[in-house]
Amino acid sequence: MKEQKNIIIDCDTGIDDSLALMLSIISEDINLLGVSVVAGNTTVENAYYNTKRVFKLLKENDIELFSGSSKPLVKDLIIADETHADDGFGNISKEFDEEYGHIKKDFIKSEENISKKLVKYFRDKIDNNKNVILVTIGPMTNLALALKEDPNCFENVHRIVSMGGCFRVHGNTSPVAEFNYWVDPEAANYVYHNSPVKVEMVGLDVTRKIVLTEDKVEIIKKKNNKLGRFIEKITNFYMDFHLEYENIVGCVINDPLAIAHIIDDSILSGFDSFTEVSETSITRGQSVVDSQNFYKKKPNSIIFTEVDSDRFFNLFYDRIEKYGKKGGELNE
Ligand code: RIB
Ligand code: CA
Repeated sequence: MKEQKNIIIDCDTGIDDSLALMLSIISEDINLLGVSVVAGNTTVENAYYNTKRVFKLLKENDIELFSGSSKPLVKDLIIADETHADDGFGNISKEFDEEYGHIKKDFIKSEENISKKLVKYFRDKIDNNKNVILVTIGPMTNLALALKEDPNCFENVHRIVSMGGCFRVHGNTSPVAEFNYWVDPEAANYVYHNSPVKVEMVGLDVTRKIVLTEDKVEIIKKKNNKLGRFIEKITNFYMDFHLEYENIVGCVINDPLAIAHIIDDSILSGFDSFTEVSETSITRGQSVVDSQNFYKKKPNSIIFTEVDSDRFFNLFYDRIEKYGKKGGELNE
């Protein structure tokens, strides 16, 4: 077996975050060292408990879970409850807890010295493990707070992969901005300007082509009924949202693409560029990609524009099927 890739995920567990966490945990290619949660799709408390639900679904009890910032650096928090539901879990949290058992209510808001705590958490994972890839699939508040506290916090990180932004396609929050970068543009801009490695931007240009449809859910249920039923339930609300707001039959599952990109780097292709994120006015959250190198600045990002969506889904199906065979009872 190929050497596992060490990753840590920073997320706002939400519906597609849940699928990204699932893909990370069930894939033998990946060693998930830790998860930090941030406010975005939902409150940081909901994100914390939703992440624990995914751990419980997969009988995963050993992954450290760090509760991060409950609000953006500067802007007021605006959550996406119309997209991810009031609980951030497609409104299935109650039904889930009845089926899988109640989640221990141990959330502690870590506002006191949160920046120092974030630096300690990130450094503990990154400095003590080989080639750690930091995957950020929510607003970048936690990363920015850590970098502001310790500019060298990520000096040993191998890669930073960010689900966020958009280059040639329209936004999903404002006409020009993707949600993660719109919620906390100051954080996103700070990370693009201060990251020691190029930020790999897995943006809407590629994620919009990853549409989970009901027939794909049926394929997943055949490969692993338990995980397939969970995916069907948690995406039901999300599919309704897509039909009503985006005229899409199915739902765009953005976050798992960032994980698949780490597992198979042939799924995405793109180019190096200088990028920054607008912080104010009607361009708030816009990832401005200097693709023509007009400003002659050193590239700080890799912008992905092409995606092999069949390759993504084949990988997604394959990891679910393999896990079901290994997991035995998980295929009930
Ligand atoms: O714009 C899509 C991104 O914003 C995804 O990460 C989704 O979970 C939300 O966080
Ligand atoms: Ca997310």
